[in-house]
Amino acid sequence: MNIQWYPGHMTKAKRMMQENIKLIDVVIELVDARVPLSSRNPDIDDIARNKSRIVLLNKADLADNGKTEAWKKWYEDRGAFVTIVNSKSGKGVKTVTSIISEACKEKIERDRRRGIINRPVRAMIVGIPNVGKSTFINSFAGKACTQTGNKPGVTKGKQWIRLNKNVELLDTPGILWPKFEDKEVGIRLALIGSIREEILNISELSVILIKFLVDNYQGVLSKIYDADETKDSLDILEKIAVKRCCKTKGDTYDLDRAASFLIDDFRSGKLGNISLEIPYDTESMLNIEKSE
Ligand code: G4P
Repeated sequence: MNIQWYPGHMTKAKRMMQENIKLIDVVIELVDARVPLSSRNPDIDDIARNKSRIVLLNKADLADNGKTEAWKKWYEDRGAFVTIVNSKSGKGVKTVTSIISEACKEKIERDRRRGIINRPVRAMIVGIPNVGKSTFINSFAGKACTQTGNKPGVTKGKQWIRLNKNVELLDTPGILWPKFEDKEVGIRLALIGSIREEILNISELSVILIKFLVDNYQGVLSKIYDADETKDSLDILEKIAVKRCCKTKGDTYDLDRAASFLIDDFRSGKLGNISLEIPYDTESMLNIEKSE
């Protein structure tokens, strides 16, 4: 599922987000654990200023565990509450309730001092398309949840999912637009399938992936495709074409099809647990300033 973003989309998405954020105590941001920085739009730091922040490193089943742990620390060092999840299987999803309570401790305390008791905290899921927002909401809310609002006789309003007596979740996630002015970011998003491949053609994309794998995950290409990793990327792509029987009608190999196989194998985890980004210093910080 790829989405192409135009200025109109972005303005609308931003307006929706700004409207909804007013109702929210805690913002739960999903990022893709294989590209935890490229899969976020740092504009959320501004939009969600003064809110408690949680980052979920989702699709952890596809990412490199060691790197995911390093990213968890990276985000924690920047003031977020962080947890590692696989929304598809549900692994790690249960811990999110306690993280929400932890992230909202100050607010709950503040309410208590003002004599407000048992007011649930309100949470919203945000993230770029395809990062797993709907999957997470389904897994997190499950069947046991009750919906509030929009009932007959109740003022028409937002749909909230009551998770327990302490937490309500806005049932529509906030969609952040992917930000890929930086070509490197665009390539990573194309590789995980979040934006259209046209940013580069599929062969170019596969050559980049091959180079990355040879440099960072030695042995993967030889194990899966019997490829000689000392050869150059095009030779390796040709080997993948042979292995996957990508012959054309003539006696040549269809490298575009081989490239598609390789990218699909990466996206589906057939190549193993691979992360495309390692933590690095950046000016993009969470910039969390909690209000007292
Ligand atoms: P969105 O609302 O943020 O746009 O994302 P959505 O939940 O639709 O998820 C996008 C794709 O990512 C889905 O796959 C979904 O199954 C998959 N996904 C979500 N979370 C995880 C996860 O933790 N691990 C893995 N491996 N995949 C995850 P799809 O191919 O579009 O659909 P389907 O094959 O599941 O039917």
